[in-house]
Amino acid sequence: MSTPTLDAIDLSERTFWGAPPEQRHAVFDLLRRESPFAFFAEPQVPYIPVGPGYHAVTRYADVEAISSQPALFASGSGAVSIADMPPDLNEFYGSLISMDDPRHGKIRRIVAKAFTPRVLENLVGNVQAVADDVVARARRTAEAGDGTIDVVADLAAPIPLRVICDMMGIPEADRAMVLQQSTVILSGGDPELVEDEEYMVTAFLKAGELLAGLMERLAAERLERPADDLTTALVTTEVDGERLSHQEIASFFILLLVAGNETTRNAISQGVLALSEHPAERDRWAADPGLTRTAVEEVVRWTSPITWMRRTATRDVELSGQHFPAGSKFLLFYAAANRDPAVFADPHRFDLSRDPNPHVGFGSRGPHFCLGAHLARREIGVAFRAFADHLPDLEVCGEPARLQSSFVNGLKRLPARLTGVR
Ligand code: HEM
Repeated sequence: MSTPTLDAIDLSERTFWGAPPEQRHAVFDLLRRESPFAFFAEPQVPYIPVGPGYHAVTRYADVEAISSQPALFASGSGAVSIADMPPDLNEFYGSLISMDDPRHGKIRRIVAKAFTPRVLENLVGNVQAVADDVVARARRTAEAGDGTIDVVADLAAPIPLRVICDMMGIPEADRAMVLQQSTVILSGGDPELVEDEEYMVTAFLKAGELLAGLMERLAAERLERPADDLTTALVTTEVDGERLSHQEIASFFILLLVAGNETTRNAISQGVLALSEHPAERDRWAADPGLTRTAVEEVVRWTSPITWMRRTATRDVELSGQHFPAGSKFLLFYAAANRDPAVFADPHRFDLSRDPNPHVGFGSRGPHFCLGAHLARREIGVAFRAFADHLPDLEVCGEPARLQSSFVNGLKRLPARLTGVR
């Protein structure tokens, strides 16, 4: 692999994000060392005016400084896209992740109140049942065919999707549509998933409409006939006498799909890949369930499924002695901060017993820290224990197909074989 040079780096170039992770990390290392606020022109998005460009923040300390000062570095102009989207789209697709106080605080309090210990407790029990069933189905798929499976479709995708659908009370009959439409929203415009860039915006809007329609129908049903699920909690919970509107619930559901589904899916699929590339670590974890707590954190640090979130300066600001005018855009590169040698000893070593491991895979200090971190940790831990116990013969047998997205560090496919199947 040739050593990158600063002039040749363009983080807005889509193909860069399909490259193997070692290449990305070599670039992050260089930026962190020599240009920790490197400036890039924005990628073009059809129908959206091109904005002024952005700074790529690659040092841990700077990511933390920005994230922990939400009054100076806002999320409201868009946290999940580089371009400024039209405000109604931004709010609808971003829900609370693209909001600032006081609205963010209000919605977050309602939602957090709905994630009651009882709702979470039920979910946690359910994760084990879902993982066991998914693993058993994967073995049947291998047995019915030539012994191979796709780690993404057969193992990593169904676990978080089923957990979220169970959590929201989505009926079985609607789940295929949920999977199909969420894949469009989460595609990041990958040409294999959204064929025509011109068509991308329409496909995206249509997907949002279908998912919103489903949630509005369910919300109305739960008001009539409450059930033991998160949708019921969301329609009935009040903070300061206010409830979420059906549209706000629909918008939060889309965020849950985006934030909770694809992230955990990629932590699991990329975790399987990392373990196959580090067989001694895989064997260590298989032999010692006590390693699960630190191993889960290392999988999240190593894979950093969300590569960045955006913030925008609300006024002129200083960062590490540099001046930035109001309106400057910053992409907080969690993937780069998670390999910062100032914080992590030997950062490019995959070490399942790394402790402490203050990674920022779930975001850094601040009001937007991942609401689902507890659930995600549980899903990842349970999934890998189920693989170790029931799929000890799982072996990656081909190259991963990488998602060409700067935002999500994703795999589209990962071929594997169950060697115990003849
Ligand atoms: C490995 C899995 C996951 C990763 C890597 C991840 C990562 C993140 C990151 C980086 C943020 C933004 C933090 C910030 O802007 O400061 C976030 C926010 C969020 N996550 Fe997660 N997440 C994961 C799983 C989940 C799950 C399972 C759920 C829910 C079921 C979830 C729900 C959310 C929500 C609702 C937010 C927005 C919080 C807010 O803006 O107040 N996430 N997550």
